[in-house]
Amino acid sequence: MSALTALQLQDFRSYAALALTLDERPVVLFGANGAGKTNILEAISFLAPGRGMRRAALDAPVRHGCASGAWGVHAQLKHDEDDPFALGTGLDPQKRSRRVRIDGQNARPSALADLLRLVWLTPAQDRLFAGPRGARLRFFDRLVLSLHPEHGRNATAYERAMRDRQRLLDEGGADPAWLQACEQQMAEAGVKIMCARADALAHLQEQINARAQSAFPQADLHLEALYEDAPEVTAPDLLDALVQGFSRGRHRDGAAGRCLSGPHRANLHVLWRAKAMPAALSSTGEQKAMLIGLTLAHARAVAAKDNTPAPLVLLDEACAHLDANRRAALIDEVCAMQGQGWLTGTDQHLFEAFGDRGQCFEVAEGTARAVE
Ligand SMILES: Nc1ncnc2c1ncn2[C@@H]1O[C@H](COP(=O)(O)OP(=O)(O)OP(=O)(O)O)[C@@H](O)[C@H]1O
Ligand SMILES: [Mg+2]
Repeated sequence: MSALTALQLQDFRSYAALALTLDERPVVLFGANGAGKTNILEAISFLAPGRGMRRAALDAPVRHGCASGAWGVHAQLKHDEDDPFALGTGLDPQKRSRRVRIDGQNARPSALADLLRLVWLTPAQDRLFAGPRGARLRFFDRLVLSLHPEHGRNATAYERAMRDRQRLLDEGGADPAWLQACEQQMAEAGVKIMCARADALAHLQEQINARAQSAFPQADLHLEALYEDAPEVTAPDLLDALVQGFSRGRHRDGAAGRCLSGPHRANLHVLWRAKAMPAALSSTGEQKAMLIGLTLAHARAVAAKDNTPAPLVLLDEACAHLDANRRAALIDEVCAMQGQGWLTGTDQHLFEAFGDRGQCFEVAEGTARAVE
């Protein structure tokens, strides 16, 4: 079991100072619109590397009107029976950079990933199935990253090489050897990206398939490469196939002003298995249920991975569109998880099915009060 047993916020968004003492049970935050529920989840999301669940600029969380210009989040993180770790992060206003401390020692943000895994679902993701391909791929890549931490590095290397190649194509008359060098780098990173995605997809699908009786619809996932002659991950000469594909596409990509083939053009298709229908055609509540199903499967896939702590699962307004049956099913799933779940909603009654299996806080005016 992985759980936060304490959480403190300083000058973080609507909070001057907030201190929560917790046990290992799932946490419910309820309160009116604008009360500060999502702010608490966002604060937790900064306990992982990256820009948090709002993808905010580093100084955006600083509480308006606060003189220090800094924000801080501190937590006690407990894994099973081990002694808790003290995690701290925040903005260092002098250096304009993120400060991370683990058990009182300075650490790199990336070190947080070894101690704490996070999975989150926000209302901004509600349009994921019907929305643009790129947003869906970003969602999937974040999921891949939680199973393959090197995925981010490979994606950065791929994008850098792709930008360099495009600059050469845009300028025209480049030495073919330079272009070839960029394409080789793209292909090398591209192979790693494709393999990590295929592996993550298989693990996710395995977790989905394991829950035949779930209240959350089972999805069939498929990653489509949006270009002709796209090699399969199983292609014996995947690297060569990518290199040749980039080389063949030079003229076309030069004219288009961007690279039109490669792993960055993949499209994640999500199908409602029982209806054999694209998830995008489902109702609002059905899409939400599928998203929650995917998120829970993601959490189980991370938890099932060796040497990886079970992830904390942050579900912002996950109950909003769910009927009472699905709400109760979600609460049962959250209680069964090996990582602490955090749920938000406007009304306490949405969470009645927790009984005493959860700990409830009423959020209002910069405070969070524990309620029975
Ligand atoms: N940097 C900041 N300084 C001070 N207040 C901020 C800052 N950023 C956001 N806020 C305020 O925080 C408040 C609470 O936001 P939050 O998103 O947590 O509400 P919520 O409880 O999740 O509401 P909802 O139910 O509508 O989702 C908002 O009123 C917003 O104006
Ligand atoms: Mg909110």
